[in-house]
Parts: sequence; structure tokens; C-alpha cells
Amino acid sequence: MSALITIDHGDRTGLPTTECLIVDDEPRLRALLRRVMERDGYRCHEAGSGVEAIDFLRRQGVDLVITDMSMPEMDGVALLRHVTAEWPDIAVMMVSANADVDAAVEALSIGALDYLTKPFRIDEVRARVAQVVEKRRLVLENRVYREQLEQRVQEQARKLEELFLTSLQSLVQALEVRDRYTHGHSLRVSRYAGAIARELRMPEPVVRELELGANLHDIGKIGVREAVLNKEGPLTDEEYAHIMEHPLIGWRLLGPLLREAPVALNVVRSHHERFDGRGLPDGLVGSEIPLEARIVAVADSFDAMTSARPYRNGRSTEAAVAELRRCAGQQFDPACVMAFERVLLSGRVDVVGADATPLERLAAAAA
Ligand SMILES: [Fe+2]
Repeated sequence: MSALITIDHGDRTGLPTTECLIVDDEPRLRALLRRVMERDGYRCHEAGSGVEAIDFLRRQGVDLVITDMSMPEMDGVALLRHVTAEWPDIAVMMVSANADVDAAVEALSIGALDYLTKPFRIDEVRARVAQVVEKRRLVLENRVYREQLEQRVQEQARKLEELFLTSLQSLVQALEVRDRYTHGHSLRVSRYAGAIARELRMPEPVVRELELGANLHDIGKIGVREAVLNKEGPLTDEEYAHIMEHPLIGWRLLGPLLREAPVALNVVRSHHERFDGRGLPDGLVGSEIPLEARIVAVADSFDAMTSARPYRNGRSTEAAVAELRRCAGQQFDPACVMAFERVLLSGRVDVVGADATPLERLAAAAA
């Protein structure tokens, strides 16, 4: 059996020497074990009690502790509990004068890797110690392997997410090419909506999903006829109905891709719902509309008002906020409008519209 066991021969192989602490109140037995172990290349230290052992371990780490069960002051089991709690990487072997099966089972259940009974047979001690050292090496190796594996899986997941977001971003860009007046709109809406959500103390992972949804909110316009999308005059009823299909088109398009991101999907589907229930596509009322969609509705309208179009200048921040306030309770959730005003006043988000009013004027208007 011992031929199958890898013994760390320490200095003789150039591998790090296995450090071992032998704990026994009988100096003669410590010396005996020490001689046996040192012949196999272990570097040994001795302690005459559990308390002495803990003292030693606080000063110096070891790989293996071999401890007697019955000692004055602190017995082997108490020492074992202490070691497994404070230094879980140290392997512990128990030694007892009698073959007490109950004590052995208890020690193994607390975390001892093996159990020796006195009197020793030298060959058996050598083999069992080597086995314990090997077991510990495998446990540590396995843990490092698991940690590295977890790291690699996380890294892969991050790369996949990045790729996924890049392809979604290409969809947004494809839309912005077709709908030349929405250039940068999605990004600005995402920034405003994120700031409102943080002001409302939404948890950060939810905010990030909301920002993703805001970035994609108009993606369904890819399915809208270009002539309607870029028409400069007033829309006919049919054209308006066609353009307002975009929340549902976007929701269907992204549904399979964003199964894990329901907040983002809610934004895409419900950003044209109205607080008074007269919105699209589901006619939801008040708090029936997901909060993330109520937030994006405010950010979306604000950016639409402050951005310039070829046939009109963008409104000032001041005028856009006044309009949001006027429509609070009808089109918009008043709590979201108020949160956005606080965000604008605090300067936590820059207004990037064509004719952004300096924040001082907005502050003056609010006073
Ligand atoms: Fe929209």
C-alpha cells in the first residue's frame, strides 16, 4: 500500500518541505514520532499541549498537525475544533492510547483526516501520515482547480455578455441609420432613465437592466416602414397606428434574446403606456405599468423635447420640465417626474439636447 502513496520527500526532491507539528504531553512519544517523520523528509516541530500548539500555530503555519487525544488543559478534540475553525487548510491526525471508536468517529466528523492508535507500528504511521498529506494536497489542489474553473466560467460569461451587448448595440445603430433623427437618442434616454432609477433607489443590477432596456426601447422601429419613420409632416391615423406598433415589435424581437432580462423587456413593451391608462399597447393604468417603463417614458419624452429636429429647434430644459410637470398624473408618473427634476437640479446628469438650458435657470424656475 505504501508504494502507491506519494510522500513529499522535502529537500531531497526540491519540493517544499512538509511542515508538521507533533502535539503530545509525553516527550518520549513526541521524540519517537519526530524521528520516524524526519527520516521521511518532514520538518517537525513539537508542542507539549493544545495551548502550546495554538500558540505555535499563531506564529508559524504548518501543513499537518498530529495530536494526542488526551492531554491536560486542552484535549485533542478541542485542539482539532480550534485548528479546523482557524486554519482550515491544516490537515489534522488524531492519536489515542486506546482504540476508542466513538472518539475516532467524533474526530473524523469534526474534520480530522485520520486516526492512529497507540502503540504505533512504525510502518503504519509512515503510510498513514503519507496518505493524509496526499489527501490534503488533493483537497487543496481541487479547491484551486475549482476556483480557477469558476473564474474561467465567469470570464466566459462576461465575454458572452459583452458579445451579446455588442450585437444589440449594432441593432440600435442599424435603427439609427434608418431613423436619422434618433441619432444618440437611445443612449441619452438610457442615461436619463438610469439617473432617475438611482434617484428612486432601485438596486444597481435592476438599474443596469433598465438602462439596457432604455437603450433598446425603440428597437421595434426597425419593423416600421421607412417612409413613415422619416415623414416630416403630420402622420395619418394609419401611419400613427403603424409607428405605434414598435413597442410590441421590439418586445417580440427581443423576447427570445432577453429572457433573462425581464426589466429590459418591460421597458421595450411598455414605454408608451400612459399613467392615466390611455397608452399602448396594453392600456395599463398607474402602478400596473412596470416602474422601469414609467421611468423610461419620462426620459424618452424629455429627450424628444430637448433634441432638435430639422423642422424645429429642441425645447429648453426649463420648457421640457414644465411640460413633464404639466403632464404628470396623465401621461407620466408624478413620482418619476419629481425624481427627474431632483436629478437635473443636482447636476447628476448632463442634458445633451440641442438647446440645453443652464441648470441655474432651471433651479431658478423651480424656486
Ligand atoms: Fe418609442
